[in-house]
Amino acid sequence: MRSKKFNVALAGATGAVGNQMITCLEERDFPVNKIKLLASNRSKGRELIFRNRPFKVEELTENSFEGMDIALFSAGGGTSQHFAPHAAKAGCVVVDNSSAWRMDPDVPLVVPEVNPHAVAGYTRKGIVANPNCSTIQMVVALNPIHQKFRIKRVVVSTYQAVSGTGVKAMDELSDQTRAIMNFSDPELKVYPHRIAFNCLPHIDVFQENGYTKEEMKMLNETRKIMEDDSIQVTATTVRVPVFYGHSESVNIETEAPISAEDVKSMLAEAPGVELVDDPSQNVYPMPIDSAGQDLTYVGRIREDFTIPNGINMWIVADNIRKGAATNTVQIAEILAQDYL
Ligand code: A2P
Repeated sequence: MRSKKFNVALAGATGAVGNQMITCLEERDFPVNKIKLLASNRSKGRELIFRNRPFKVEELTENSFEGMDIALFSAGGGTSQHFAPHAAKAGCVVVDNSSAWRMDPDVPLVVPEVNPHAVAGYTRKGIVANPNCSTIQMVVALNPIHQKFRIKRVVVSTYQAVSGTGVKAMDELSDQTRAIMNFSDPELKVYPHRIAFNCLPHIDVFQENGYTKEEMKMLNETRKIMEDDSIQVTATTVRVPVFYGHSESVNIETEAPISAEDVKSMLAEAPGVELVDDPSQNVYPMPIDSAGQDLTYVGRIREDFTIPNGINMWIVADNIRKGAATNTVQIAEILAQDYL
């Protein structure tokens, strides 16, 4: 990385992802000159630590970005929709973790292991979008396979952690678990049904076609990131009572003949991937092992004997790290290194 340092704003610094962004900037030694921590007026004055120093959280306003070079946003779609253009107008490049800008044709949608070149398109709106957490870990594992064997169709079911919904959802899982263990009634605040000791086949809002928005994101974002509109993705996204780490059962069908060995040897070399696949020793990826890590873990790789060129696999990553904060900071690193 060059010696230039950058003024960095974090919008949503008090949230689950924002907090992890602070950690990622520290761990990856991002060249920060000044840092500005922004959240809603509820958090104004709260202290957060960056590089062992306390910083007061400021209220996010339209004028927050004067003199800032890069803004990392994770404060919800509506907030990004409103404030990102103000940041861009102030000459501050936004890397946005919400869904607000992802499908805008003038905003690149980037997973650094897959399409780092797309960052160049940031000049059009001054915004780069970070994909949905479930999509990121899937394309990190599938892109190398697609490049060689051409994936025609993906059937995916997800098992998504509550941290993806935010801090309040993590509190809800803790509170409900405690209530149930104490024989009292669990309160519902965030999810429409109990999440403790349950699974909800419902992430984001239902659409007219019967799929949820989260499920359609997995199709649309995969096509945009992998730059191939011919790939079919059909998804069922499920919230499970896990705090950190999304898991995915993924079935792919390729144009070219493919074997489990082909996939294993490819993924063993793939950037950002770790192969965890020794079922004889009960070794396979699990969310508890992914928590706090930046890699995408792949295992249970086996041929689908019901179709000519099919593979099944199990993909796990920390949704708050690689699925959000780490990927966002990686994009900022590309901006810092190559463009700003
Ligand atoms: P706050 O903590 O002040 O509410 P999470 O996804 O974990 O719930 O976090 C959401 C993040 O987005 C928090 O930092 C939250 O700040 C911030 N946020 C939510 N709404 C706004 C808003 N209207 N303006 C600024 N920050 C917001």
